[in-house]
Amino acid sequence: MDQLTLRWFARDLNARGELMANTLSDPISEALSQENRKRLQSVIDRAIQDERMVAIGVCLPDGSMVVRTAQFPKSLSCGNASVLSQQPEPRLKIEGGPVHVSVHPVSTDTGRVADLVLLHDLSFVDRRSLDTRRYLIVLISCLGLVMALITMVVAQLSWRGWVSGVRAIMRGEGLLSPMLSPSGGGNSLPPPELEPFAADLRARLRDLEDEYRRAQGPEAEWNPERLRQLLHTRMRGDQVIVVSNREPYIHEREGDHIVVKRPASGLVTAVEPVMRACSGTWIAHGSGSADREVVDSHDRVRVPPGQEEYSLRRLWLTPEEEQGYYYGFANEGLWPLCHVAHVRPVFRESDWEAYKQVNQRFADAVVAEARSEDPIVLVQDYHFALLPAMIRKRLPRATILTFWHIPWPNPESFGICPWRREILQGMLGSTILGFHTRYHCKNFLETVDRYLEARIEHEHSTISFQQDTTLIEAYPISIEWPTDSQISRWPSVAQCRAKLFERLDLPPDHKVAVGVDRFDYTKGILERLHAVERMLEKYPEWIGRFSFVQVAAPSRTSLEEYKSFQDRIHRVTARINERFGRAGYAPVHLLAQHFGHDAVNELYRAADVCLVTSLHDGMNLVCKEFVAARDDQQGVLILSRFAGAAREMPEALIVNPYHVEELADALLRSITMPPAEQRERMASLRMTVREFNVYRWAGRMLADAGRTRLRERIEARVQRHQDNHVDAAPLLH
Ligand code: G6P
Repeated sequence: MDQLTLRWFARDLNARGELMANTLSDPISEALSQENRKRLQSVIDRAIQDERMVAIGVCLPDGSMVVRTAQFPKSLSCGNASVLSQQPEPRLKIEGGPVHVSVHPVSTDTGRVADLVLLHDLSFVDRRSLDTRRYLIVLISCLGLVMALITMVVAQLSWRGWVSGVRAIMRGEGLLSPMLSPSGGGNSLPPPELEPFAADLRARLRDLEDEYRRAQGPEAEWNPERLRQLLHTRMRGDQVIVVSNREPYIHEREGDHIVVKRPASGLVTAVEPVMRACSGTWIAHGSGSADREVVDSHDRVRVPPGQEEYSLRRLWLTPEEEQGYYYGFANEGLWPLCHVAHVRPVFRESDWEAYKQVNQRFADAVVAEARSEDPIVLVQDYHFALLPAMIRKRLPRATILTFWHIPWPNPESFGICPWRREILQGMLGSTILGFHTRYHCKNFLETVDRYLEARIEHEHSTISFQQDTTLIEAYPISIEWPTDSQISRWPSVAQCRAKLFERLDLPPDHKVAVGVDRFDYTKGILERLHAVERMLEKYPEWIGRFSFVQVAAPSRTSLEEYKSFQDRIHRVTARINERFGRAGYAPVHLLAQHFGHDAVNELYRAADVCLVTSLHDGMNLVCKEFVAARDDQQGVLILSRFAGAAREMPEALIVNPYHVEELADALLRSITMPPAEQRERMASLRMTVREFNVYRWAGRMLADAGRTRLRERIEARVQRHQDNHVDAAPLLH
């Protein structure tokens, strides 16, 4: 600024000097022509009155100074003044302070007659520059202050946003979403700038979880042995009775032979290993064509065939009973009611009567099988909503554990059922009522709240109705984790793949996705087919390089809803194959038949992808079986967010099956996923399913039941003691 102002002032002073020289040129040239030195002196003395002017000198063309004012420095000659005035900074220091030197010609018509040397005061420049500096400092300070304030406000706002973002992540919001859904299916994603932090945190959580699991060691592992021990220590080896509609082993007549079949049922998959560990009795509907031929006089048969670890007690239903109770009320009424899968529930009075009657028959069978007053009865699923209260009536001290394997809807949806109160009352005969998820527990508590006069204690998740109290708890069901010896008997992944590829005549680098379900409208099979179609439409480079294999075990085929659904699936499959297929290539292979456990396991091992796209599912065990089958840690699981399993398995590609684009993109992502990512996801999934296996499911329920039994026994003892005391009292007095 100093340099700049100096230059400005120098320019000003030169202009001023020019003006002064012009003004003085006449009197000076006149005085010179008259050689009147005195007048010349008086002219310049008068001119010096100007406050900025320090001194003036007049030089003749020969370089001599003819007159000068008193302040003019003697040392400054005309020559020096002329040289100095040419400098970029014509500045000279004299006694009174710095001066600006300028030389201006004094001319007449005849030409230049003299030079006027003007010395202007420059000290004011320093003063001004000091002032300017002060102003600038104040200005910059103010600006700095304002900027600092703005920065602080912005920083404060960002900090708050960041902190609340971090807090949200720490609470777990948005932490699982990216894993839950490839297309952001979760509704609370962290802000993008926090995504790296969330990713780190996610990784750290996983490490911690692994560490924790490792630290727990074999202690945490639930296996048949541990379950047996629990039964002996906590339940004093009491009898366990399971009741389900579907039996674990079905004897069928095929020509001269009787073959044993395992049904396609998640319930059976889960409960059977538990039953093998507990021994006891399983009561179920004998539905096989040769079932009656193999039972003893009490309708019992020891199973599994060849190992005979527990008793299967078969109960025979008339075709009318089966029609009303099983097909009618259970599968046309309760099944669609609880799944809310856009199929209307049908409630017929006659079905309800059959349902009540069959529940009573099973209750009678339980009483007949019970060896003590207080057996442990495991009631399974929606076929037996009335059974718990019926058993409770006959065996008041029994421990009744009811597990509802399908979802429980919200109170409004459940309200459709004309016998809603009777169903709720029946279920509340249970000691413990289990669902797969907390969400279903919450729905049940709200439903009871809406339709019954009962006391609900949310803190303990209990419902007291009439004399009984029921604990409502979430027990996520699972599968039996394969043992090392079982795994060692499996064919290798390469062998499984070769077998499947040979069967379907596929080239070696073909990608294969599989679906394994009962042929049921809740499983999202149609949505899956639409996604395959959309993927081939969107990414035509996969036509001829990708196939989808759907195994659909026929189920409840005599129901109209199932028949028309199955026809529709066949039609859509044919349409897709016609559209994208060609000689030797079909994009969809629909195998509408029952596959045994080994065949399904081979299929899981052969596939690149497994699709589980239920529109609503209590848990779904197919996804867990797929994970258990992949000891090579490869393969991608696509899992519906509407299956209970999605909560436990966020490392799968979580999808909304109703969103065809999302599903098609997830399919593409799954067949292009690098092996390292597959390994990472699969390893984590396997660890979860291995730890949270079916023995743990049963163990947790039985441990809760053990606590209840212990409490009840103590209460009964105290009661007896009190009664004795009261009876004895009159005698004492
Ligand atoms: C679901 C039900 C089971 C049932 C299974 C098979 O998983 O929760 O109770 O056994 O479907 O159905 P099905 O009618 O053939 O027994």
